[in-house]
Amino acid sequence: MRIAMIGTGYVGLVSGACLSEFGHEVACIDSDAGKIDALNAGRIPIFEPGLDEVVATNVKAGRLSFGRELAPAVKSADAVFIAVGTPSRRGDGHADLSYVYAAAEEIARGLDGYTVIVTKSTVPVGTGREVEQIIRRARPDAEFDVASNPEFLREGSAIEDFRRPDRIVVGAESERARAVMREVYRPLYLNETPIVFTARETAELIKYAANAFLATKITFINEMANICEKVGADVQDVARGIGLDGRIGSKFLHAGPGFGGSCFPKDTLALLKTSQAVGAPTRIVEAVVDVNEQRKADMAEKIIAAVGDVRGKTIAVLGVTFKPNTDDMRDAPSLVILPALQARGAKIRAYDPEGTAEAKKHLDVTFCADAYEAIEGADALVILTEWNEFRALDLARVKSLLKTPLIIDLRNIYPPKQMAEAGFRYISVGRPSLAPEV
Ligand SMILES: NC(=O)c1ccc[n+]([C@@H]2O[C@H](COP(=O)([O-])OP(=O)(O)OC[C@H]3O[C@@H](n4cnc5c(N)ncnc54)[C@H](O)[C@@H]3O)[C@@H](O)[C@H]2O)c1
Repeated sequence: MRIAMIGTGYVGLVSGACLSEFGHEVACIDSDAGKIDALNAGRIPIFEPGLDEVVATNVKAGRLSFGRELAPAVKSADAVFIAVGTPSRRGDGHADLSYVYAAAEEIARGLDGYTVIVTKSTVPVGTGREVEQIIRRARPDAEFDVASNPEFLREGSAIEDFRRPDRIVVGAESERARAVMREVYRPLYLNETPIVFTARETAELIKYAANAFLATKITFINEMANICEKVGADVQDVARGIGLDGRIGSKFLHAGPGFGGSCFPKDTLALLKTSQAVGAPTRIVEAVVDVNEQRKADMAEKIIAAVGDVRGKTIAVLGVTFKPNTDDMRDAPSLVILPALQARGAKIRAYDPEGTAEAKKHLDVTFCADAYEAIEGADALVILTEWNEFRALDLARVKSLLKTPLIIDLRNIYPPKQMAEAGFRYISVGRPSLAPEV
């Protein structure tokens, strides 16, 4: 089967590479010349574990190619995936669909023979119909269907998620389109991955409902953490105690500095806008958006309260990406927390294993070559992203390098008892702090 993937970012590149691994012939198209040149030179423009290997293997096998010209790729394709960005529109929070619609116009020009156009981008309900109309207007003669196939992969484990998804959701209006989509995912289908076939609008909504639900879980446990801090309870035990209940589940119950990333913030906002536009407001999602916004500001205050007056103080920060194993900085909590500390006069020395190049575009702080360089001479250490390498710091060395043995861990990666024994004043999220044993 021949596939064109329009948009070669985090989702398009992973999806394109993995679909070529299934045996399909995939042409990945992007309008960003720098990205395509890098890929054609064998460089991966993003950090995603395992992606370089999948790309290299399939390019070598002749199944995966990269280019800027959309028309030839679309002409020969059985399925054309749209995987372009749908960021928040400036000013009103609606999903910005201009990239999707521009791609649809271009696809229309290239269509030749029956083709299924598949929106993999996260798009509001009704976008598939609009894409169909755009193409129909431009090419009344074309034979095509428009299907919705939202993507659920997580950055940082995207390859595994694509190879072994919990489910595949396909919204399609014709049996012919469903047959093509079944063929696209046949290797997974044979592995008994459930394929949920729905109406197109339903598939579009499923993606937003999933992200809003997960964002709600995170926000819920963050509020429980606040209560824990007031009453001396431990939020990790609360999360375990409720998460073992099969109806609740243990995932996405880690208290922290608030959710960020390329999806939850913009998708909760877009769902809110849709719900308001159709006259079915969702007060839960409204609260989630507000609480999460406030949470990031509260985290800056938590750090300031722990350090005291931060003016002129140096704060070491470990991790600036929105989560580990990615270089993605979109809506990372660090983008709110670090400037808030700087506004109060703090100096920031930060280290991130993979995010530094991207972070430098957004943060005006001192970036260091490793964790210990950031920590040296600092008045406090803040753990902001739970990269694995921060889980096994040489605590004696950390203590000797810090001016004051103060750690504020916004990801709860160390047991408070171990930190007290190591002589730290250790402040985490929703867990009792123990006095340091000196
Ligand atoms: N990143 C994730 O974890 C994730 C997970 C699930 C779903 N999604 C959704 O997938 C979509 C893509 O997200 P992403 O993170 O991959 O975005 P991204 O910004 O990394 O990539 C989008 C790419 O599309 C390209 N592009 C834009 N218009 C184009 C056009 N007309 N022709 C060719 N290329 C074009 C851009 O140059 C860019 O490289 C979004 O709707 C997002 O919500 C993202």
